[in-house]
Amino acid sequence: MKLGVVILAAGQGTRMKSVLPKVLHPLADRPMLGHVVETARGLGAERIAVVYGHGGDQVPGAFADSDLIWVEQAQQLGTGHAVEQALPAMAGMDQVLVLYGDVPLTSQETLRGLLQAEEDTRLALLTVTLEDPAGYGRILRDAQGGVQRIVEQKDASVAELEIEEINTGILIADQQSLVQWLGRLDNDNAQGEFYLTDIVSMAVAEGVEVCTAQPGDEHEVMGVNDRLQLAELERHYQKLQARRLMRQGVTLRDPARFDLRGSLSVGQDVEIDVNVLIIGDVTLGDGVRVGANTVIRNSHIGAGVQIFENCVIEQAEVGAASRIGPFSRLRPETVLAARVHIGNFVEIKKSEVAEGSKINHLSYIGDTTVGRSVNIGAGTITCNYDGAFKHRTIIGDDAFIGSDTQLVAPVEVGAGATIGAGSTITRNAPPETLTLSRGKQTTIQGWIRPRKEKN
Ligand code: UD1
Ligand code: CA
Repeated sequence: MKLGVVILAAGQGTRMKSVLPKVLHPLADRPMLGHVVETARGLGAERIAVVYGHGGDQVPGAFADSDLIWVEQAQQLGTGHAVEQALPAMAGMDQVLVLYGDVPLTSQETLRGLLQAEEDTRLALLTVTLEDPAGYGRILRDAQGGVQRIVEQKDASVAELEIEEINTGILIADQQSLVQWLGRLDNDNAQGEFYLTDIVSMAVAEGVEVCTAQPGDEHEVMGVNDRLQLAELERHYQKLQARRLMRQGVTLRDPARFDLRGSLSVGQDVEIDVNVLIIGDVTLGDGVRVGANTVIRNSHIGAGVQIFENCVIEQAEVGAASRIGPFSRLRPETVLAARVHIGNFVEIKKSEVAEGSKINHLSYIGDTTVGRSVNIGAGTITCNYDGAFKHRTIIGDDAFIGSDTQLVAPVEVGAGATIGAGSTITRNAPPETLTLSRGKQTTIQGWIRPRKEKN
């Protein structure tokens, strides 16, 4: 069976009160529409067409995927009209699934159930029973429970408004039947729109049994109209991810205070404390412990690494059994080998640090190669930028850099070299020797501190 998916995304989203088209508002750092596209792909869709309108080229412009078919609906004349615009793109498909760019969390499992329901007939609807069905189209059934038609809130009688089973809008139809049904739609209703939902009574008139399926959870069919609803779905999504990770064996000290915006792969016995934010593509090896309030973005953290509280780690590699933080910042292109210690208020950028080296306090290390078993004292700064160009610093194995040293790049400290505390190093320091640059210390005897006269 060839599956085509039509995603409706032409609505304006006035209640978002935003210049950004609604479907581009992010859920877990990815546009809502992106989640829907991913779901369609997961179902094995042969073709995916997106109907867009408001926001113009902003919507297609936000997606690099070259295989998406973009269909412009200049005027929003109703859901039936919207799907009709995408029909040419669906030619040759067997089944057409209609999804919505502002309903981001429908699960593949639920949709597979619906796809199966459609195979025995020509139309299947995803419905749900709500305590408060206000605003939605209602599902009308006959005495035997067969679906008869859908009536929109604005067209419904008082009795029909009592019905609690509602139309989620998501449906699957036989492609050829859909072409015929949509061709016969009119807009003779309370809103003067071409209703997609009118195809239900057409199918019934042809003797088609209209099947229904229900989602596993109400959040799967919730649409986003304002930022409150978006936040609610974000929380739900985060809750699902947290559960999945815990089932995989991750300890989350508080699953309600954990956010994953991207993808996280984990080893065994990973432990994550509260308010940790994981962004992009992150790997945490076996036994990694992440302290509270830490942000990790696009990084790989080796086995047994301990990250203490309040660290910010971006595009970095951290070798096994290293200790980071508290309050460390690893910036892009930082590569730490095994058993490296990075301490508080240390910033590392575009540098490699070899095995067993320690940079424990208040330092800036940028554009630097640090050898093995190096000790970098508190307050060391690589002066890597001359206002126009970046220069490299090279520090050999077993070097000892005294506290409060400035290494003015380009400069090299040889293996086993010692740099005296407080030095400004502007020329290469030879290996296995002590190099220092320091003003001579003097003491002035009998000097008296200035004092204010007392009246
Ligand atoms: C629709 C259904 C209703 C269902 C409800 C679920 C119809 C006629 N009614 O009503 O039975 O309970 O969804 O939320 O289908 N859109 C376009 N182009 C258009 C019109 C709409 O792309 O011309 C898109 C919108 O961006 C939106 C979606 O389709 O994402 C639904 O449109 P909306 O007008 O909100 O439909 P409802 O009145 O809510
Ligand atoms: Ca709606």
